[in-house]
Amino acid sequence: MKILLTGCAGFIGWKTGQLLLEAGHSVTGLDNFNSYYSPALKRWRVRQLGESSPGQFRFHEGDLLDEGLLNRLFREISFDAVINLAARAGVRASIEQPAPYLETNLIAATALMQAMVRHKVGKLVTASTSAVYAGQKAPFTEAQPVDRPLSPYAASKKAAEVMAYTFHHLYGLDVSVLRYFTVYGPAGRPDMSPLKFTHCIARGLPIPLFGDGEQRRDFTYIDDIARGTIAALKPLGYEIINLGGGNEPVSINRMIAILEESLQRKAVIERQPFNPADMTLTAADIEKARLLLGWNPRTAPEEGFRRLTSWYQAEAPWLANELSLPE
Ligand SMILES: NC(=O)c1ccc[n+]([C@@H]2O[C@H](COP(=O)([O-])OP(=O)(O)OC[C@H]3O[C@@H](n4cnc5c(N)ncnc54)[C@H](O)[C@@H]3O)[C@@H](O)[C@H]2O)c1
Repeated sequence: MKILLTGCAGFIGWKTGQLLLEAGHSVTGLDNFNSYYSPALKRWRVRQLGESSPGQFRFHEGDLLDEGLLNRLFREISFDAVINLAARAGVRASIEQPAPYLETNLIAATALMQAMVRHKVGKLVTASTSAVYAGQKAPFTEAQPVDRPLSPYAASKKAAEVMAYTFHHLYGLDVSVLRYFTVYGPAGRPDMSPLKFTHCIARGLPIPLFGDGEQRRDFTYIDDIARGTIAALKPLGYEIINLGGGNEPVSINRMIAILEESLQRKAVIERQPFNPADMTLTAADIEKARLLLGWNPRTAPEEGFRRLTSWYQAEAPWLANELSLPE
């Protein structure tokens, strides 16, 4: 297939691109390398994609909000499908600055769907988040009402889900909306606790821990997420599907213990007040993903966190300077 992959320099975009290329698809990647976190880490990911399959991968540096660029891309290449992973992600930063979240996650995503309709590209896989389930009873199922988001990030993602439905209704766009649950692994996001804490523990820096650390997350390993994302390219009409770890949710304290063991160093904890935009528990019901996509996560947290710390140690010399972490 010929696939347009937006956000291909991002964590999930990079791994999804890798698996698509390995499966023999041709991938056109788009990313604006924004500075929400280290552009050097993003460029490293794109280099990896280019080096792995030079003939099958084309990269365009640009903004999803640039309609001219979108139209040029769609005119040049007759894509079979679009995987939209370009987004402003991160709950806490969205509270400080909501506007870029709406611009990329809703307005640019809408422009992308308009371009798809104009150029008759019928399949969209797009990323949503477990953050939309805030306040609901766990485990979270796709049928639960999610109309009370706790952060501008979650609100922007919910809005994008709804807009995608409108495009499905009006134009028959086939849409798989994937609600990812806390994704982690090698080359992950420096604003998220797994890589941030790995870095802090390895360097003896204090870990900023919000609340008592007993918040639990349904951590999902990056390769599992990328596999599920590709499986969701099949025609489905309009479906919202959870992709979650499938294990018992892991507390932040437990994650720190696994990282400490793996890095053979004790963490220095710096306690911060619980953030009201945070969730105390995320847990996915993944029956629908099993049923519709034949998807099952394969990587247990102990193994996944060990792979993250091994990657960090291998890449530490250049990476450490890049991890100026957003607060
Ligand atoms: N990582 C997680 O745990 C997680 C959990 C739930 C949902 N998600 C969702 O999955 C998707 C991918 O997340 P990620 O973790 O890979 O994030 P990421 O920040 O690593 O990747 C997003 C990429 O999109 C690019 N981008 C942002 N705005 C752009 C624009 N206007 N034009 C072009 N490129 C732009 C960024 O430069 C970045 O490389 C996002 O929609 C995110 O909300 C992620």
